[in-house]
Amino acid sequence: MSTKTLVLLGVFLLSGCYYDNEATLYPGSGTCTPLTSSTFSANVLPLLNNRCNNCHGGSNPSAGIDLTTYAKVLKYVNDGSLMGSINFSSGFSPMPKNSGKMSACDIQKIRLWIEAGSLNN
Ligand code: HEC
Repeated sequence: MSTKTLVLLGVFLLSGCYYDNEATLYPGSGTCTPLTSSTFSANVLPLLNNRCNNCHGGSNPSAGIDLTTYAKVLKYVNDGSLMGSINFSSGFSPMPKNSGKMSACDIQKIRLWIEAGSLNN
């Protein structure tokens, strides 16, 4: 193998590592800053609007499930299907449908909000 080939191989391998970041591994998650607490309006709703409400919003939401307001989302928090679906838990339809699982960091934002009592905050 020539020196040139080795150098090219090295560059290729290094750039391979460089792309092992969250945004590449979880397309659509964007950049997620891990939080220790979260609120519905600042953290949860923007996430739902970004990853879910192209289907679960509008005049004809998928499966009749509308995730665009606090009152509507609360129903799926209380029956366990929101966390079940985003965690890809058995017995639930994995969400977002036909898309990558949300990053652990994004799921954590929803979990923190629910654990704090799923308040209208
Ligand atoms: C591409 C469209 C689409 C996207 C995006 C999507 N959903 Fe769904 N969702 C559906 C459909 C269709 C169903 C009905 C069940 C099925 O077909 O899997 C459903 C069902 C559900 C259910 C009921 C699941 C169950 O097992 O009872 C929940 C809760 C849900 N979605 C939440 C979400 C959340 C939260 C997101 C975003 C993280 C999301 N969905 C993203 C289309 C979508």
